[in-house]
Amino acid sequence: MTSLLAPFTLRGVTLRNRIVVPPMCQYSATDGLAQPWHMVQYGRFAVGGAGLVILEATAVSPEGRITHGDLGIWSAGHAAALAPIAAFMASQGCVPGIQLGHAGRKASMQRPWYGNGPLNAEDRARGDLPWTILAPSAIPVDDGYMTPAALDEAGIERLIDAFAEGARRAAGAGFAVVELHMAHGYLLASFLSPLSNRRNDAFGGDAAGRQRFPLAVARAVRAAFPADKPVFVRISAVDGAEGGLTLEDQIGFARELKTIGIDVVDCSSGGIAGSATAARGPRRDYGFQVPYAKAIRAEAGIPTMAVGLIVDPRHAQLVLDEGSADLIAVGRQCLEDPNWPQRAQAMLTGATQWADWPRQHGWWLANRAGTLDRLGTWQAR
Ligand SMILES: Cc1cc2nc3c(=O)[nH]c(=O)nc-3n(C[C@H](O)[C@H](O)[C@H](O)COP(=O)(O)O)c2cc1C
Repeated sequence: MTSLLAPFTLRGVTLRNRIVVPPMCQYSATDGLAQPWHMVQYGRFAVGGAGLVILEATAVSPEGRITHGDLGIWSAGHAAALAPIAAFMASQGCVPGIQLGHAGRKASMQRPWYGNGPLNAEDRARGDLPWTILAPSAIPVDDGYMTPAALDEAGIERLIDAFAEGARRAAGAGFAVVELHMAHGYLLASFLSPLSNRRNDAFGGDAAGRQRFPLAVARAVRAAFPADKPVFVRISAVDGAEGGLTLEDQIGFARELKTIGIDVVDCSSGGIAGSATAARGPRRDYGFQVPYAKAIRAEAGIPTMAVGLIVDPRHAQLVLDEGSADLIAVGRQCLEDPNWPQRAQAMLTGATQWADWPRQHGWWLANRAGTLDRLGTWQAR
């Protein structure tokens, strides 16, 4: 058994392999409610063999959506719309996960395909009206973007409760993993970073102050989510901007998360400024964020997930074998090929394990295999 294909147990939850489809916003919800698109999107990853699939950033309150198309979990009705998706994923042997988030000052934006910037007149004409956005300090994410309102303490307390309530609803809807979005410049990340948090109350200032709100959320969610189910936190391991968070800062934060009982740190980077989804950064190489997962795993002593331009199963395997991470997230490559986990299995073991495919497909494909062997590659006659 290769390490990529080996099961992994966290608390009472066992993933069938180490392959995770990370959260990827679809901007296709209506009033925060999941649609048939979401069933297909997440269902096909479950059918494709991933161990864990984490649903896209799902807002714990309406103003925490990036766009009008984001998923939400701020009411029982929202959770009810998600429950069949979680149930289907679980029926396929895939652990259903969900990312809980609040977009903060990166809320109220255009869907990427309409421009990926602040809402403009054309968006308004489509009915996508802007709303009041919230942040640690009244500093826009970039020139030309909306200026957020600085959250007061009552607002912070309200959102701690909203995250905890979101976690309770997620558990009730059948999700076995929640991931907290503390990366990419969204609300909790923006509290962590000195570039966006200029507060001088208990929720700003030094690292302990800037971490206070995110850690309170982590504590509340850990308490609200069932004790036998894991909680992940996604961080930007570095802001990648002058004066922003460094890897050392975030190793310190990961140590605090471990103390709270967080199970996995999902190591992304960047996004503190600029548009909602197009993170800026230097030219990227395969596995460019793996060194962050490695350092945090070693220095904070907490399991990590590596993510970012990991497209080859042999590379994924190497990252695990080198001890750089415990889980491998494969995002866009799974958009291209939802069967990536099954192909990884074939590549790494030398044979397609048809028995591990959904029987609706595997039975037929196993029966056809001998025919294809006999015929060889198709040739024009
Ligand atoms: C369409 C799309 C939507 C995304 N939405 C989210 C999201 O909701 N939450 C998040 O933390 N990251 C999000 N990301 C980032 C991915 O989770 C992942 O970190 C990134 O795509 C890099 O991994 P990859 O090279 O394997 O795709 C998104 C990426 C894409 C392509």
